[in-house]
Amino acid sequence: MRPILILTDDPAGAKRLATHLASDVLVFDLYEETAVPTDARLVIADLHSPDSGSIVRLQRALATARPATTPFLYLIHGNPQRGEIQATMLGASRTLPATAAAAFLMNAVAHLGAGAPAEPQAAKVMQVANARQAFSRIFTRETPAQEAVDEGTLLVDRAIRDMKVRDWLSLVAEFDDVTHRHCLSVAGLAAAFAQSLGLNQTDSHLLTKGALLHDVGKAKVPLAILNKAGPLTAAERRVMNKHPVDGYEMLVGADYSEIVLKVVRSHHEMLDGSGYPDGLTGAAIPDPVRLITVCDIFAALIERRPYKMPESAAAAFQILTDMRGRLDQDLIRAFAPVALSIEDDLRESA
Ligand SMILES: [Fe+2]
Ligand SMILES: [Fe+2]
Repeated sequence: MRPILILTDDPAGAKRLATHLASDVLVFDLYEETAVPTDARLVIADLHSPDSGSIVRLQRALATARPATTPFLYLIHGNPQRGEIQATMLGASRTLPATAAAAFLMNAVAHLGAGAPAEPQAAKVMQVANARQAFSRIFTRETPAQEAVDEGTLLVDRAIRDMKVRDWLSLVAEFDDVTHRHCLSVAGLAAAFAQSLGLNQTDSHLLTKGALLHDVGKAKVPLAILNKAGPLTAAERRVMNKHPVDGYEMLVGADYSEIVLKVVRSHHEMLDGSGYPDGLTGAAIPDPVRLITVCDIFAALIERRPYKMPESAAAAFQILTDMRGRLDQDLIRAFAPVALSIEDDLRESA
């Protein structure tokens, strides 16, 4: 079989990577003036310092090493947004964070290296698993690192471009952890909503990021309350309802944008002032917050919980419509195409 070729600026790191992959891996140092191997079945770029110098060298090597039909996997080191742009510019078949678990990497290599496009369901499962892995680094009792949040956000945005939001929700519904399930559902819905509104990439990214982080304060809620298999008592509810302020305090001062901070603090506010923690009304609740609130309530309604059956998408949408006066009805009308694309079969798959 033809070999797998890794093009790298760090041969020692790439050799470590190669040990996870297959026995027939060639490592090529982009800074060595020797001939680039040709005829690989898969080319992997592993640039530890993806600056203009190494990118130009990579481009030159690809021109020789990679005929258009050879799959090309670009591993992203450092800034995920910049990495996605570089990968697109270089014509990558797919990307993975360089920090992806070896199992995901092997899976991608097995699919790409076999010369066949990834089997659609397996590719979706992997996208969802990658996003969950990123989310598990975000959802801790510590202030999440911007890099992990950006990576998770990009993984969700990309997945929702590649698959129907219904498929995303069905796969996320398989997670054992209620909070992981919920936050990734809200993030997928927010990404789909942003795309359906035709928002630009920057605004979409911001909304998905806000959605991913909206309940980060729940990391401070004791697990006995967070995962309780039944309705909460009044005292437990008071603890749970601190999560918007706890989340805000985790993020404030850590260079998160004003919008993200507002989403985290105010996603339980209602237009008529009946929400919490600040009892804001009308114009004091900005549009991005209103949008995440719609996605948040919709997600909670269609989720399976130990003490309640999931609502169908249509029933959940009707409940949003009935919350007239509390939720922004213009936004709910705009949400209709997303909600109704999900269809009622979520009830069976949940
Ligand atoms: Fe919340
Ligand atoms: Fe929530």
